[in-house]
Amino acid sequence: MNYTDAKNLLEKYGQTQLLDYYDELTPSEQRMLLDDISRTDFGVLENLNEHVSSELGKLSPADALSVEDIQKRRHEYEEEGLAAIRSGKVAAVLLAGGQGTRLGSSLPKGMFNIGVTRTLTIFEQQMNNIKEVTERAGCMFHIFIMTSDLNDEATRQYFADSGYFGYDSNKIHFYKQKLAPACSEQGKVYLELKYKVALSPNGNGGWYSSLVDAGYRQLLESEGIEWLNIYAVDNVLQRICDPVFVGATIKSGCACSGKVVKKVSPEERVGVLCKEDGHPTIVEYYEMPASLASLRDPDGQLTYRYGVILNYLFSVAVLDKIYRDKLPCHLAHKAIPHIEGGVRVTPSSPCGYKFETLAVDIVRLMGSCLAFEVVREKEFAPVKNRTGVDSVESARELLQLNGVKL
Ligand code: UTP
Repeated sequence: MNYTDAKNLLEKYGQTQLLDYYDELTPSEQRMLLDDISRTDFGVLENLNEHVSSELGKLSPADALSVEDIQKRRHEYEEEGLAAIRSGKVAAVLLAGGQGTRLGSSLPKGMFNIGVTRTLTIFEQQMNNIKEVTERAGCMFHIFIMTSDLNDEATRQYFADSGYFGYDSNKIHFYKQKLAPACSEQGKVYLELKYKVALSPNGNGGWYSSLVDAGYRQLLESEGIEWLNIYAVDNVLQRICDPVFVGATIKSGCACSGKVVKKVSPEERVGVLCKEDGHPTIVEYYEMPASLASLRDPDGQLTYRYGVILNYLFSVAVLDKIYRDKLPCHLAHKAIPHIEGGVRVTPSSPCGYKFETLAVDIVRLMGSCLAFEVVREKEFAPVKNRTGVDSVESARELLQLNGVKL
């Protein structure tokens, strides 16, 4: 893209401020800026006007397979799941495209050291969790790792330097998600540097479309992969391709399933798996009316008690039918470093928006979803912050509780 093309494009979207410093830049910086402009999806800015806090339909609680239900049929589910894994029908997808801003490290979140007396990164801990399953199954499954332009190189390099943690490197596949521009509250796209558009990962909702765009649909076909288990990078107790979960999902006949934990309080910041107008859905904590979040059953349990932990199993056949459907775009109000009046500012409070689609919104499109309850102390140790709730500290405690030497 040359200068004139960029100017024409930006005029169309009312974003010519991105060229304000063009004349001050060196030729290579000018090239970088034009490249950035050419790969920016300005179309997402439409969501700024269209975005009205979408009205929720009629909510009702979802039924779940409880820990007790699962325990009764554990053996049967496990055998079914192991058979599926052994016949290559199951693969894992690690969502590692996020920026991990709350953790405040410039490295990919998975490279964060969760160890105390030794180095144990989040990636390594999750690969250790995977090995427990592959050893039991006697075979390795494919693992797809979604990164973004901002952390792809570092992630690939780290896996290569770590010898893929002893995993078969032919079964580990990296692919990139897309980036979206960040803008001011007035809808003007920010410059992160005078020669760099402020771009950030466009949310985890595009995990399947990006996998297909990266050319991996053919591999799913040739390997006979029928189920994809997506999981977040930031839960160090994550059980990946858990045979009991896989078996229960297959037996349920549902198009997808999600691991859930009982919420500890109405205020806990997790999405809730429930029904909206009779369809399975996940309502984010900030969208859930407080009156419903605190509602209790006669036995004292929260009525909307099943919190999701970003571990879902999806049927590939059903994904193929719906993945090009438009997902709602969520506006995240964030503090975004940017150039203002020629200098770089780092605001401490939200000043603009990032645009994200979310994987949870795919659940609704799938049509049916099994809620599968797990014991939170065994499977949910999120690392979102440095200290306090869902932090490095709390995750370390939980790892130790589960016998992991740190
Ligand atoms: P979070 O929503 O916690 O976001 O991601 P984050 O980017 O890791 O952290 P903050 O909000 O900046 O502090 C939940 C999961 O979804 C992935 C993350 O890598 C994490 O596994 N994710 C998030 C993506 O893969 N892509 C995205 O664009 C956003």
